[in-house]
Amino acid sequence: MEIISLGPGFAVELRGMKVAEVASDASVYSAVRAAFEQHSVLVFRNQEVDDDTQLTFSRCFGRPEVTKVGSQGTGTHFVILSTIGEDGKVVPADHRLALRNRTNQLWHTDSSFKKIPALTSVLLARIIPARGGEFVSTRLAFERLEPRLRAKLENSFAWHDYAHSRGQIAPDLASPEERAALPPQCGRLVWKNPVNDRGALYLASHAYAIEGMELTTGKKLLDELMKAATAPGTSYVHSWRSGDIVMWDNRATMHRGRPWPAHEARLMVRTTISATAVDGLETMRPSTQQAAE
Ligand SMILES: [Fe+2]
Repeated sequence: MEIISLGPGFAVELRGMKVAEVASDASVYSAVRAAFEQHSVLVFRNQEVDDDTQLTFSRCFGRPEVTKVGSQGTGTHFVILSTIGEDGKVVPADHRLALRNRTNQLWHTDSSFKKIPALTSVLLARIIPARGGEFVSTRLAFERLEPRLRAKLENSFAWHDYAHSRGQIAPDLASPEERAALPPQCGRLVWKNPVNDRGALYLASHAYAIEGMELTTGKKLLDELMKAATAPGTSYVHSWRSGDIVMWDNRATMHRGRPWPAHEARLMVRTTISATAVDGLETMRPSTQQAAE
């Protein structure tokens, strides 16, 4: 397996393997897992996979999420990201699917608003958009901060709410069913990877407040951290090709879709793997006492 550097200090392409081998060969899994822990974004080119192969590959990393209410693919292990309506045509700009794609263009971390956040997302492009996805390393962003601020953030918690990120695009974009199913969640602002002991900012468009901090002050700090984490020159932009799979570490990255001409169709399929204790999940939750305060 060959590792080719793609981004500024993170993101690599893994060459010389098929993702199907990860499930059948423990040594291949170990090598891919080590690259995942170290480089945060992995790109696999020329992979011809169907839904089953994508899911089998994803399962090697943990338990797949069941797609939430209100998303395409609800009740399955697949999230369908599409701009194609039931009539087979690209939907107009004010269609709910189009608005949801605009929320995808905000910097975010998949599932930070869920009770059990995500370790990784695996994305396969079926119909290739003209523009790529953009990633930043929140691990490198954390390591760029002053030591005193890092220490403060390691002991701070942020509130994440699905309805908050949706509300930035349209006030009623999160439905009453989604709001009921996805109450706000509190998580530590720094996710420490137990494998390499490196911390990463855990932020994103769903974060709206810092626990114990006045709302405006907390929002200002979140905005400053988001700006620092997405500073010019720190991102990797992926240009999709047919047969590409991209997987990323939701603990150590943020990503966003890039705008593309509205008339061009996009169809992507995502599997998302929930984090567990070995991924550092336990340290992300406030203690019972902190949560009660
Ligand atoms: Fe996403």
